[in-house]
Amino acid sequence: TSDHLRHVDSMGTLPSGTGKISYLNAVILGDSLASEENDLVLPSPEFSSQALIPSSDKYIEMYRRSIVDPAGFWSEIASLFYWKQKWSDQVYSENMDVRKGPINIEWFKGGITNVCFNALDRNVQAGLGAKTAIYWEGNEPGQDGSLTYTDLLERVCQLANYLKDIGVGKGDAVVIYLPMLMELPIAMLACARIAAVHSVVFAGFSAESLAQRITDCKPKAVITCNAVCRGSKVIHLKDIVDTALVESAKNGVSVDVCLTYENQSAMKRETTNWMEGRDAWWQDTVPKFPTTCDVEWVDAEDPLFLLYTSGSTGKPKGVLHTTGGFMVYTATTFKYAFDYKLSDIYWCTADCGWITGHSYVTYGPLLNGATVIVFEGAPNYPDPGRCWDIVDKYKVTLFYTAPTLVRSLMREGNEYVTRYSRKSLRVLGSVGEPINPSAWRWFFNVVGDSRCPISDTWWQTETGGFMITPLPGAWPLKPGSATFPFFGVQPVIVDDKGTELEGECSGYLCVKSSWPGAFRTLYGDHERYETTYFKPFPGYYFSGDGCSRDKDGYHWLTGRVDDVINVSGHRIGSAEVESALVSHPQCAEAAVVGVEHEVKGQAIYAFVTLVEGVPYSEELRKSLVATVRNQIGAFAAPDNIHWAPGLPKTRSGKIMRRILRKIASRQLDELGDTSTLADPSVVDQLIALRDC
Ligand code: WT7
Repeated sequence: TSDHLRHVDSMGTLPSGTGKISYLNAVILGDSLASEENDLVLPSPEFSSQALIPSSDKYIEMYRRSIVDPAGFWSEIASLFYWKQKWSDQVYSENMDVRKGPINIEWFKGGITNVCFNALDRNVQAGLGAKTAIYWEGNEPGQDGSLTYTDLLERVCQLANYLKDIGVGKGDAVVIYLPMLMELPIAMLACARIAAVHSVVFAGFSAESLAQRITDCKPKAVITCNAVCRGSKVIHLKDIVDTALVESAKNGVSVDVCLTYENQSAMKRETTNWMEGRDAWWQDTVPKFPTTCDVEWVDAEDPLFLLYTSGSTGKPKGVLHTTGGFMVYTATTFKYAFDYKLSDIYWCTADCGWITGHSYVTYGPLLNGATVIVFEGAPNYPDPGRCWDIVDKYKVTLFYTAPTLVRSLMREGNEYVTRYSRKSLRVLGSVGEPINPSAWRWFFNVVGDSRCPISDTWWQTETGGFMITPLPGAWPLKPGSATFPFFGVQPVIVDDKGTELEGECSGYLCVKSSWPGAFRTLYGDHERYETTYFKPFPGYYFSGDGCSRDKDGYHWLTGRVDDVINVSGHRIGSAEVESALVSHPQCAEAAVVGVEHEVKGQAIYAFVTLVEGVPYSEELRKSLVATVRNQIGAFAAPDNIHWAPGLPKTRSGKIMRRILRKIASRQLDELGDTSTLADPSVVDQLIALRDC
């Protein structure tokens, strides 16, 4: 702790004496354009003066308290929620050191609560019943709807009653495979209400991926809809579920109920494939149930949900989050990182199929009584101005998105942005991958009219909520930096040997000691949890990311250091893509790496060795890509298939991805030492085939 406080103290000296102070003055005087030369962007005094955390001093004071006295700090915050019974005197207990026994993290243990109650009933009781909880915007402009907090509570209760009626109870898993309809957060909250464990699967995943997740968590029911329109495409989700359920049944997991929402604008029920006895229409069954439903009170450490995410090896991991800590952490991070006020209108463009949609579409905002926008469509449909059309339509004040969207809209030119007012915007947010400074500046200058601070939030499925993030109003921003740790978070940067680095440094990003939102295990595989996250650097949680810290203490994330590829903010394991490719009958071997991509951040680049005697062809290339689409989902499709007569391997047979990355990114003069390869000539063969 004392080491860390030294670091905190040095943060307090920023930014005076850095020579950039004149720029800060310039900003205060109104010249607030963030340009290439100026690398500090200060929030305006008007913004800071009304902000929840109005200064770096205030941040430091609170941060210090959160590190010196985590129990006291988090108890005070947790007390703002409703607890049927308070947690035990020990606010948290943890072992994050594999050398000292099994990894174990608990927060508010013994406390009895319910997240759905806190998000809905508590807010209704506090007088927010008539406030809009959700504005829904459909794929087509003009298609919309909304629910107040009272409406939402009633809808959630009806579904909760239905689920209980079909036999779903505490601890049972429910798989949700829905697009961004209001029914998606409704389904999540209904599960939370009755202590069922939801497992939302992003509706862009293939039948095979869905089947894999169903097989792993053995749900009592699957909730889906018949179809969805995304842009100009119609996707038949129910058919995908049908296929997945056949597949999971082969693995011995049969699901009794498939509750299907009729998404009329995309598909009528008459044309939907149906299995009598198993399938039920949401609209025919759920509305018959009462609009009140008793809450299932649970321990803070009872599971809330599972969410599968990709690792560098093997099958997807079921990240498990529990109730109390996740509730307190997502609500608190949401409030401070977006400087949330009751009058805000908040839009996060993420899908609830990813963690961002769990923590920052559904739980964090609703726990704060916020008004949230749920958008079904695609951000560039019918044209690249759609986002700003939505911002103006609902008077969005807080807009949270991913760098990939910023970059893709940036390419379409400023007119699509400037034809809309956007004057409601107050704070912008970014998540999913490092945001490059030029995209940051465009987001700041053009979208936010140089007026709105950007919260570049670094976190992960595993962390539950923001870990390193600006608090708008508190700090000067640096374009591309996620800045400083959230309260209670102790990031450390370590070297290869796991030694903590001090001051200006660069290395592996780890976290010392736990925070309430941390995941507690990988479902059914605590050993993999320990091996992946706690064994690499004993004593710490290892994030899998590289990071550097500059002289002012700002953190700069540099991307994954493992074999995880980040495509448009979606995490894809190279091993998963490889196993999809080798399942193709004509593929003998595959090695997949990420390469830089202007819009997507990274793109998937696959080296493929064909079965002896099979000739290269364009058709085969397409069929390999289709295999990946079918097995994982369209978002994981490789951008490049590079024919490989052989792969660079060490004598022990390990593929040297370092070399493949260089070949893929055409950095041939940086291949490095190839002498340890079993057969160095494969490198020349690969180079010769690079544009074939
Ligand atoms: C990985 C986690 C957390 C929600 C979205 C993705 C990368 C995420 C940032 C950021 C730099 C970021 C990291 C991380 N990442 N946010 N602001 N700056 N990198 O969740 O699928 O669990 O992926 O996304 O590499 O490890 P996820």
